[in-house]
Amino acid sequence: MSASLNIQLSPFAADVAEGLSSPVKRLSPRYFYDDLGSALFEAITLLPEYGLTRADERVLRRHASELGCILQSVSLVGELGSGSGRKTSSILQALRVRNPGLRYSPIDVSPAALDTCCRQLSDLALISPICSDWLDGVGQIAARRVSDKPLLLLFLGSSIGNLDRASISKFLFQLHALLRPGDYFLLGADLVKDVDKMIAAYDDAAGVTAAFNKNLLSRINKELGGHFDLRAFDHHVRWDAFNRRIEMHLLAWKQQDVYIGAIGRRFHFEAGETIWTESSHKFTELELESLARASGFVPEKTWTDLEWPLAETLWRA
Ligand code: AVI
Repeated sequence: MSASLNIQLSPFAADVAEGLSSPVKRLSPRYFYDDLGSALFEAITLLPEYGLTRADERVLRRHASELGCILQSVSLVGELGSGSGRKTSSILQALRVRNPGLRYSPIDVSPAALDTCCRQLSDLALISPICSDWLDGVGQIAARRVSDKPLLLLFLGSSIGNLDRASISKFLFQLHALLRPGDYFLLGADLVKDVDKMIAAYDDAAGVTAAFNKNLLSRINKELGGHFDLRAFDHHVRWDAFNRRIEMHLLAWKQQDVYIGAIGRRFHFEAGETIWTESSHKFTELELESLARASGFVPEKTWTDLEWPLAETLWRA
């Protein structure tokens, strides 16, 4: 019997054990966002190569007053994966013109990100942060609703692209089930664009995204007693044209065994073997429309950015 069977594993350790034992080694991108990972992600959003966040902010800023008109009956806003909340301020500003008592519930797994978000947006709404997974957080908002007015749920920054394509429809369907008819869902989704531009966005010259990717290994070292040598892994990015996604991997450039104390076993890596850490799916406008309809939403309006192709699409439950 192996030593690992006698150890009670934490959820993080169990996920790492399962991911590193599978034939294609994987780690979930949800573990990127410890305090350092969240700070590195904020730095990524400022990189010249990573236009996604700026495009998101630009579209929302440009169309804020139109959104304010369409969404004038909204008094409660929930946001999935709020991050620092920077991109949300123009929407909240537009909504609070008609709704001075506007309430806002950001949902994020990172307490540090929620903290920053609350500080940044406290002048614009009454904030009730929820530290949890997305669907669980939306469930909490739904359970606490008192008003009959529609809810606006924000899912910005193309975080939807980090789900597996197969689970995107299921996720949207589950989300729809938590909403009431008439509720709104505003989704920011990165569109397919020039391949070199997409690769550079995830493999920046300054190496910030490489540090973000490798921080996953240092998190395992810190929290699970792992013995990863970060220098023995390279940040590796590829475009999968068939699945329309950027993949991020950590590539072991030499053969090695890595012991992880909290799991009580070592994991073998062949030279050239990778750990798949993230997929960032890219979309077409047509695909977004059919995703909306397949999950029970009615697409109302889509705004796009021309500088960095990205769509901000408003759906109604
Ligand atoms: C959070 N998410 C939308 C980012 C993305 O573009 O997939 C995460 C990221 N990974 C590397 N750079 C940014």
